[in-house]
Amino acid sequence: MELNLPLDAPNSPYPQLFSSLTLGRRTLRNRIAFGSVFSGLVERGDVTPALINFLANRAKGGAAMLVAEPFGMWRLVGPAAQGRVYGQMNLDGFRRLADAVSAHDSLLIAQISEQGRGDVRAARRGGAVAPSALPDDLSWTMPHAMSIDEIREMTDDLVLSTIRLQACGFAGVEISAGHGHIVHQFISPWMNRRNDRYGGSFENRMRLLDELAARLRQECGPEFIIGVRLPGCDGLPDSIDWGDSALIARHATTSGSYDYINFVQGSQAWTLHHHLPDMHGPRGPYIDRIGWLKGFSNGVKVASTGRILEPVQAETLLSDGKADFVMLGRTLIADAAWGMKSAQNRDADIRKCVSCNNCWAVSIAGGPTQCDNNPRVGMSEETDWRPSRTAAGKRVTVIGGGVSGLEAAWVAAARGHEVTLFSNSAELGGRVRLFSRLPGCESISSIFDYQIATAQRAGVHFELSHQATASDVAGCRPDAIVLATGGLFCWPEQLPRSLYDEGLVADMPTVLRDLVGRSSRIGGTAVIYDMDGTEMTYAGATLLADLFDRVVIVTPVECAARDQATVKKQSIHRRLMEKNIEVITWSEPSPDSRFEDARFVHRNVMTGRQGAIEDVGLFTYATARAPHNELLPVLRTVCPNIYLVGDARNACSTMNAVQDGHVTGCNV
Ligand SMILES: Cc1cc2nc3c(=O)[nH]c(=O)nc-3n(C[C@H](O)[C@H](O)[C@H](O)COP(=O)(O)O)c2cc1C
Repeated sequence: MELNLPLDAPNSPYPQLFSSLTLGRRTLRNRIAFGSVFSGLVERGDVTPALINFLANRAKGGAAMLVAEPFGMWRLVGPAAQGRVYGQMNLDGFRRLADAVSAHDSLLIAQISEQGRGDVRAARRGGAVAPSALPDDLSWTMPHAMSIDEIREMTDDLVLSTIRLQACGFAGVEISAGHGHIVHQFISPWMNRRNDRYGGSFENRMRLLDELAARLRQECGPEFIIGVRLPGCDGLPDSIDWGDSALIARHATTSGSYDYINFVQGSQAWTLHHHLPDMHGPRGPYIDRIGWLKGFSNGVKVASTGRILEPVQAETLLSDGKADFVMLGRTLIADAAWGMKSAQNRDADIRKCVSCNNCWAVSIAGGPTQCDNNPRVGMSEETDWRPSRTAAGKRVTVIGGGVSGLEAAWVAAARGHEVTLFSNSAELGGRVRLFSRLPGCESISSIFDYQIATAQRAGVHFELSHQATASDVAGCRPDAIVLATGGLFCWPEQLPRSLYDEGLVADMPTVLRDLVGRSSRIGGTAVIYDMDGTEMTYAGATLLADLFDRVVIVTPVECAARDQATVKKQSIHRRLMEKNIEVITWSEPSPDSRFEDARFVHRNVMTGRQGAIEDVGLFTYATARAPHNELLPVLRTVCPNIYLVGDARNACSTMNAVQDGHVTGCNV
């Protein structure tokens, strides 16, 4: 559906959000900006059609201003996946990008964001530079301390590259002076120990930012938007706290260089997870602080950022005067049409960010960004996507009401198929629903909430609380079957299988289903054998920590949450530590365990050394999942056209399960 959003929308349910905003000499048609998000969509230094789609989709979907991901604007080569501006002869891709965004009446802003010594991966980087030769807190990269000439050279390069982007049609630039990037490194006394004009006093530490902003204004003129991301609290010792942030805001905004400011938290350190507050904390955790900092901003427009998920949240913070506009990251990754749907009073249609941070995890790992709740990120038909209807409707039977089956069901029904979905549970959502009932995980329910509502609208017929048999399926006379019956945790082979058969030991979902919602304490020790590594296992562990005296995770690898991106690992480990949950690494269950004596024995996989845990009231396991698809052979006799999706095909993440269901719904 095409919609031209008006510059201001007096009849919108969110009049503040859809009022225009003046930034410098430019006008935004509403108060929604897309924050800079590294997308992983650049190839060999070039803007790709996929990156153009990614940003243009969000412009089309209602973002009035978009801050592009950081490009290489300095002679020092940044990450390989960064678009190159400096030294790039052909900037046509950048031109096409700016054109694609402005075609939707939106403004495209570049971002100056150089890493300096920082790295979000645990990998020491050669060739890094920084204000001082101090190791990066996260990667332990040791930079070389920049000379005054190198600082001047950097400023020259950044200004030159910005001028080139301006010529390509970019409407402005944002300096990242937070998130542990190089300007933040200069501002923070924790990272800057220089004793020349760029270090020591507050004014000296602010000098790089001041000079850069002044040069940009001078070279790019008054029409060009200049914004800055200032550090809020970075959480590091003797660095920048909220009080310092207020001083920085007051200082920066006296210069007259900026058209807007934005505050971001954390650093490239053990506070990396403050960049992206996850589902375990409150919504909009920084709104009040940012509102307070606005008082130090000399009237410069302030953007609020951080887990603003709902239009009503944005509207409220704007009408409370806590910011002048919102700058959304993950919210707009999850739904490019968030603004359009908000303007049309279609909040229930929004696929909401579940704050799982898997978008970050995949792009940092080198892939294009993806989303647990948006299987179409960056595709050409992403914005407010609805499938085109098929001429020849089929009868489709879906078995399994988890997020994979639900996704396949609603998409197939929206295409015009006659869809029946069987679920053995009374409630839809499968394992993700259980996940959503664990401490701090409620947001994940947005995935199946959206799917259920959309499936109902599309006319999916549900058979709930019913274990589908072959004859049930045959009764539907299906042209196609989607088997979405999930997976089952494998029994830990080190222990006698009789423990399972006799019901003495159960897998983690079974245990959690029993215990979720229980308030009375059980006491004793709970032991989890973890070969799963997903967030759900650790959320389950925190639930157990509220019921048992002691919780121990035993894992055969080097740490809990081994496979998670650093940003997620930090917050998982923090929660485990806060709950005093112990982790025994490089270990597995030993057959010497005696559950009848409440004794669990673990064995080190390297050395074979054993240790015992006594008073064990619960042992459970979260291991690799095997497909749970034993209906398959008999279903083949009903209909040969069978699609296996999600864990029923092979164990996968929530993100992959939703994608799998989506693709199947499109193809069936
Ligand atoms: C995948 C991903 C990549 C990001 N990359 C950048 C970046 O390159 N520069 C930056 O300043 N912020 C980056 N951010 C931070 C966002 O701009 C934003 O500040 C953060 O996600 C919090 O806002 P949100 O809660 O609306 O997502 C990134 C965030 C995500 C999720």
